Amino acid sequence: MKISELDTPVLLADGDAVERNMERMAALAGNAGIAWRPHAKAHKSPAVAKMQIAAGACGICCAKLGEAEVMAAGGAKDILITTPVIGPSKLMRLMQVANQATVSVVVDDPSNIEEMDMCAHTAGVRPDVVIEVDVGQGRCGVQPGEPAVELAKQVMQADWLTFKGLQGYQGSIQMTASFAERSRAAADALGKLTATAGLIRAAGIPCDYLTGGGTGTSVIDAAAGGLTELQPGGYLFMDARYREIEWDDGNKTPFEQSLTVLASVISKPAANRCILDMGLKAVSSDGGPPVPLAVPGARFKFAGEEHGELIWEDGPCRLALGDKVSFIPTHCDTTVNLYDRFIVTSGDDITNVWDIAARGRLQ
Ligand SMILES: Cc1ncc(COP(=O)(O)O)c(C=O)c1O
Repeated sequence: MKISELDTPVLLADGDAVERNMERMAALAGNAGIAWRPHAKAHKSPAVAKMQIAAGACGICCAKLGEAEVMAAGGAKDILITTPVIGPSKLMRLMQVANQATVSVVVDDPSNIEEMDMCAHTAGVRPDVVIEVDVGQGRCGVQPGEPAVELAKQVMQADWLTFKGLQGYQGSIQMTASFAERSRAAADALGKLTATAGLIRAAGIPCDYLTGGGTGTSVIDAAAGGLTELQPGGYLFMDARYREIEWDDGNKTPFEQSLTVLASVISKPAANRCILDMGLKAVSSDGGPPVPLAVPGARFKFAGEEHGELIWEDGPCRLALGDKVSFIPTHCDTTVNLYDRFIVTSGDDITNVWDIAARGRLQ
């Protein structure tokens, strides 16, 4: 089947580009002598997770427990949950996942550690625990230094938990446009994490696992040393926003854009504009409007939940009813979550379908 035969709106993944992105990340981590544990929040697909493991990833990250449940059921063997799991109902579900796969989970609070220890005892499983350190983002995470050391001591004393190490993810710098500025901020974040690990070791607790980093700092983190594991997510598809940021060797992005949404012209209400079947429900808007491909001179505007509009300021609309237009999403994670499956392409051909089995798994 050919792309031109597909009904729209439809989510397309360029399978060849996805493969190349995986190979590049494997090489980046391999050359730095560290592991990579890609973040499944980007693709939410056990099929894609399997491909990443086959490409050399040591396991996967999940943002949510529900995502981890789907990944474990889909065969993932080693999962790090990068957001705290709170309350007995979720903690007992966590223990069930820990019965199916090797599971580590982040913590940043003493009461959560206490409750997790009790649930692990009840379930008779022993999850690995990673302390999340706030290295500058100001989201989750215990403060670096002594507060983190105190939590590490508490985990060490918990009968049913195993202390694994530290997570430090600085999400707010991943799209900092200037490479020099991004590098400085990444060094600052890494410094907080390694100094905290040093203090934990000085307290007599082994702390050799440091996980973190995202797509925007992957090149920087790999070169800097310090992290033992990278957790990039977006590198697989590359948001259109990554076009705006500077990479190390000039502006050449290390990864390719591989995700598009294909839409069709459904109406031509005026000479200089047309309406597409792709609105807010078919591509996310939190990163700005998607970027149209191969329609020079046209500007895209959302026209509601189900509609989008292409406008030519300098002349007539050059598309006919039924014509198809590809768009690069500005934020791939939130766009992927709108679809049940990726239609996988190679050139003009459809080569595969990957189910997005964990879409909508927010709990
Ligand atoms: C904890 C954590 N690690 C890694 C990532 C992956 O980041 P990116 O998609 O920039 O590679 C994210 C993304 O939000 C995250 O929240």
